[in-house]
Amino acid sequence: MSTTGAMAHVTVKSPDQMQELGRRLAPLLRPGDLVLLTGELGAGKTTLTRGLGEGLGVRGAVTSPTFVIARVHPSLVGGPALVHVDAYRLGGGLDEMEDLDLDVSLPESVVVVEWGEGKVEELSENRLQVVIGRALGSDGVPEDDADDVREVTVTGLGPRWADAGLPALEAC
Ligand SMILES: Nc1ncnc2c1ncn2[C@@H]1O[C@H](COP(=O)(O)OP(=O)(O)OP(=O)(O)O)[C@@H](O)[C@H]1O
Ligand SMILES: [Mg+2]
Repeated sequence: MSTTGAMAHVTVKSPDQMQELGRRLAPLLRPGDLVLLTGELGAGKTTLTRGLGEGLGVRGAVTSPTFVIARVHPSLVGGPALVHVDAYRLGGGLDEMEDLDLDVSLPESVVVVEWGEGKVEELSENRLQVVIGRALGSDGVPEDDADDVREVTVTGLGPRWADAGLPALEAC
């Protein structure tokens, strides 16, 4: 397992462990941070966000924002709110995000976006890219007997993440 710069690679073996990873990532986040979650349907993006919400101490259950584009979870502990965005339904990217008229300031919140690649990158030169993939066997195809195993790669882009302690996520 190699680690270079603002990066961590974690093997997650269950939904509980995915939630736990979110809880461990939460203390590294600050107001204004943008987290982009990438991974196929059912990869575990919302499960990770649930752990983030717990770690941040926000109000409300984090669920799949299927019927809304974004949901705001205010902090219960005086920290940043969690804004959970499903960009699958967000056609126009940045402009539309600002037009959502969320009752919260994005620079004062932690914004977590599912399905955001190609749409919200311009929101911030600093962003945390979380890629969740299925474990692959030595032949390069997903392993049938490892249905619950996910390989999670967390990459911090931009100066914000240079010394943010991401490699510590690899220590379980
Ligand atoms: N290691 C794992 N990590 C996360 N979820 C897992 C894992 N193993 C199995 N699961 C299951 O996979 C599903 C993940 O669902 P989740 O809603 O988090 O995915 P998602 O990436 O948000 O999907 P969508 O693209 O539909 O929003 C859950 O049913 C969960 O129980
Ligand atoms: Mg989801």
